[in-house]
Amino acid sequence: MRHASDSASDETGRPDDDALRLRVRGLAKTFVLHHRGGVALPVFAGVDLDLRAGECVALAGPSGSGKSTLMRCLYGNYAPSAGTVRLRVDDGWLDLVAAPPREVVEARRTRLGYVSQFLRVIPRVPAESLVAEPLRRLGCDGAEALDRARGLLARLNLGEALWRLPPATFSGGEQQRVNVARGLIAPREVLLLDEPTASLDAANRDVVVALIREALARGTAVVGIFHDEAVRTALVTRAFEVASHRAAARGHGAPA
Ligand SMILES: Nc1ncnc2c1ncn2[C@@H]1O[C@H](COP(=O)(O)OP(=O)(O)OP(=O)(O)O)[C@@H](O)[C@H]1O
Ligand SMILES: [Mg+2]
Repeated sequence: MRHASDSASDETGRPDDDALRLRVRGLAKTFVLHHRGGVALPVFAGVDLDLRAGECVALAGPSGSGKSTLMRCLYGNYAPSAGTVRLRVDDGWLDLVAAPPREVVEARRTRLGYVSQFLRVIPRVPAESLVAEPLRRLGCDGAEALDRARGLLARLNLGEALWRLPPATFSGGEQQRVNVARGLIAPREVLLLDEPTASLDAANRDVVVALIREALARGTAVVGIFHDEAVRTALVTRAFEVASHRAAARGHGAPA
């Protein structure tokens, strides 16, 4: 595997830190609206963020400040205008900004998870299969993966009658629980969570909080967007203010 960088100590001069899972440096994002005459929408610039095993960092800031945009950059979904997003891999670091797509896809299969705010429903695929899929893709036996998926759906109080149905017709909260189960079923070193409890009642919210705590206890490093105060209190070890990087973005201009 080719990596954009193989050392974590390059900028700081400090020795390599074994607990580091994600290292973001100089990250900037300016949207350029080509269909609007090239109008530039600066969102953030100069974002530096280190994420360690077992940490839960909350992306904070008002609506529109760039929390989801930053999270999509961390997942390699949005190309930033500048900067690096380095993920710890076995033998070094993988810069998700510069890495070839197949290496990003492989990192997502094995170590980098993302729970989007809304479930992407795949027509005709039952809820239990959607949840089991990340385990199957790690080589887990099909029957065992389904078993684990059902166990997780039961824990999330999703009625057994729904397990074999495609989630297209599920309620918002039911879809969110399927999405969370799919995101949490496989072990991940880094997990990105965009409002994972937004559509849930208090009881189901508490189950999701417990599942995330279990992942943190296993050493998963989490970056999350949590609007719910109770969820923040239960999980967050550190807040990262996205809005404070907005002013820097205004002087940043359009991306290269
Ligand atoms: N694909 C896109 N193209 C152009 N502009 C975008 C795009 N995605 C987001 N933006 C703009 O970037 C800014 C940040 O949006 P983002 O969705 O990251 O905010 P947020 O902090 O997640 O807000 P919320 O709390 O409402 O979810 C907004 O001004 C938004 O209009
Ligand atoms: Mg958002």
